Amino acid sequence: MLLTTITAAVLPSFAIASAIGPRQANRITVNVDKKYQTIDGFGFSEAFQRAYNIYNLPEPKRTEVLDLLFNTTTGAGFTIVRNGIGSSPSSQNDWMNTFLPVKYGVKTFYGNAWSAPGFMKTNGRDSNGGGLCGLPGATCSSGDWRQAYADYLVKYVQLYAQEGVDVTHLGFVNEPDFSTSYASMQVNGNQAADFIKILHPTLAKNNLSHVAITCCEAAGWNVQSQYTQQLKSAGVESMVGVITGHTYTSGISFAQPTTRRVWETECSDLSGGWSTAWYSWGASGDGYTWANNIYTGLTTGNVSAYLWWVGTQDRATNNNNNEKLILVERDSYQVSKRLWAFAQYSRTVRPGAVRVDASGGNSLRTTAFLNTDGTLAINVINTSASAASVSIAGTNGTSVQAWVTDNTHDMDPTTASRAGDGTITGSVPGRAIVTFVIS
Ligand SMILES: *[C@@H]1O[C@H](CO)[C@@H](O)[C@H](O)[C@H]1NC(C)=O
Ligand SMILES: *[C@@H]1O[C@H](CO)[C@@H](O)[C@H](O)[C@H]1NC(C)=O
Ligand SMILES: *[C@@H]1O[C@H](CO)[C@@H](O)[C@H](O)[C@H]1NC(C)=O
Ligand SMILES: *[C@@H]1O[C@H](CO)[C@@H](O)[C@H](O)[C@H]1NC(C)=O
Ligand SMILES: *[C@@H]1O[C@H](CO)[C@@H](O)[C@H](O)[C@H]1NC(C)=O
Repeated sequence: MLLTTITAAVLPSFAIASAIGPRQANRITVNVDKKYQTIDGFGFSEAFQRAYNIYNLPEPKRTEVLDLLFNTTTGAGFTIVRNGIGSSPSSQNDWMNTFLPVKYGVKTFYGNAWSAPGFMKTNGRDSNGGGLCGLPGATCSSGDWRQAYADYLVKYVQLYAQEGVDVTHLGFVNEPDFSTSYASMQVNGNQAADFIKILHPTLAKNNLSHVAITCCEAAGWNVQSQYTQQLKSAGVESMVGVITGHTYTSGISFAQPTTRRVWETECSDLSGGWSTAWYSWGASGDGYTWANNIYTGLTTGNVSAYLWWVGTQDRATNNNNNEKLILVERDSYQVSKRLWAFAQYSRTVRPGAVRVDASGGNSLRTTAFLNTDGTLAINVINTSASAASVSIAGTNGTSVQAWVTDNTHDMDPTTASRAGDGTITGSVPGRAIVTFVIS
């Protein structure tokens, strides 16, 4: 049993003199024998042909943006890409113009359809909701299109495979509880279960059983739990590889009622104007806000993956809001601190890592992960306003590296040292996140 003890002693704050109390020690204990979920990774989408933002940038900016997203030394080290499976005639190029993160070692590709093509649906178009013909309660004069839609999705996987990209996860709906003017399809949990009973054997028949079916991308965590429950009641839970939900209409405040893996697959700040702030009093676009949201997803939500909405977007779309991590202009770009919040986790907590127990400490939000290469990644957010010194004892670690993100740092290396007895000391500035990786 490897017991890692983190002792954090408060340093006097120069900024808030009145708040200085007696020196106190906080102790965090990491217990690698107490294991939680396995991590699949962190990621984002470039659906709606957002990949063009990167593709059209002149070099060297194009490579710089790809590095910011995928590079494990200089960028966020993202490991999951969620691609939109085109449904409308004007998005036929979706599967042609993807970029190639394969170079960066990304192995998890999630193909997700927003809707079936219009001719398979009750409303005759891929937008404005409507249902898939043939599902219970969705009858069409044109007949039953369930098998055709399953074949269509399998074809997408096969076409990507031909180009050397293995689609690992496949979703057939996006926000099925929401009807809107872009591609959308309304499906309830019982209807989703009905379709899964067709999609699952169709994948198997095509030697694609290793492709995990996802469901249901509901717009909020609460609504998704109703879908999850309906899938279970209909007896298809075991056919679903990953339960997936978004956090727009409700955030993560509980774990989905399932024993399957769970991914948070879409979140963003739709309301705020473009911001690159780390901490501006907890605004919805702050990097710090999202570091805390990721923490809540990994702990309260028990998620194995946490995905942002789009990686890149231009200035014109949606009044230049915060739904992107990187603002790409004609020949330049700006990076938000949200990207660096993700980087602290994504670069240090790699696919296959197992979350282990971390307890104790005041005003610290700590998560610990045992990576498959044996390294221990410990992420510490200090929710107080001023710095905390941290000492980590009890590891057999021969070396430690640490990185910090706050108002003035973008996952910059920070000092952490190891004493003769194995104690590791570092510092977590107020409202900062520091990641220690112990080898
Ligand atoms: C990541 O960045 C480093 C440092 O610039 C570079 O040496 C490396 O080639 C990059 N990785 C990839 C996969 O491009
Ligand atoms: C089935 O898929 C596996 C791995 O995905 C592959 O190794 C095998 O060759 C495939 N078999 C056929 C008959 O396509
Ligand atoms: C957490 O998720 C795993 C699957 O990744 C599941 O086996 C486990 O039961 C879940 N735990 C809780 C408390 O929901
Ligand atoms: C984080 O920093 C603040 C301010 O110094 C301090 O009050 C708090 O205790 C620190 N957290 C820990 C666990 O040391
Ligand atoms: C750490 O050292 C202890 C005692 O020397 C040993 O029992 C334990 O297996 C070691 N853990 C690791 C991960 O090497």
